Amino acid sequence: MSTAEVYEIVHRLGLEKAPLLQVLLAVQEASPHKYISEEAVNEIARLQKVSRCRVYSTASFYSEISLKPRGFHLIRVCSNAPCENAGRGEIQKAVQEELGISIGETTQDGIFSLESVNCLGACYKSPAIKIDHEVYGDLTPEGAVAIIRRMREVFKNERTA
Ligand code: FES
Repeated sequence: MSTAEVYEIVHRLGLEKAPLLQVLLAVQEASPHKYISEEAVNEIARLQKVSRCRVYSTASFYSEISLKPRGFHLIRVCSNAPCENAGRGEIQKAVQEELGISIGETTQDGIFSLESVNCLGACYKSPAIKIDHEVYGDLTPEGAVAIIRRMREVFKNERTA
């Protein structure tokens, strides 16, 4: 994302005086690959009048923020105790096998990235995963794979339509 695009987003959303994290989330959301590029770090630091180091350390602290490009869909697997006890390991294994990647990686076709998070706030329906903005709970490994296959199909159909 170019510095001009970051500038435009910050001003269009009225984030000139917003907390740094809010700016990072907004810029990341607008980025086609859902991450904060080096150009974006530079421009955010300039607009917020903070050091690049502060932008990097804030971006690195929050797992929501990525400093490397992500796939079109972001899958987050919860790794906290309630989900762990409800079979998170099996869900993660099935998802990794289906995608052919591990946590922290992106599929070669650029459709999916896989990450681990501490809690999705959906402990009452663990094990849970989040794909983009939607949480899927009470999952089985087969259910998780079915969701991914459906999303992959929709993605490919939309690209060939
Ligand atoms: S522990 Fe998994 S959603 Fe909270």
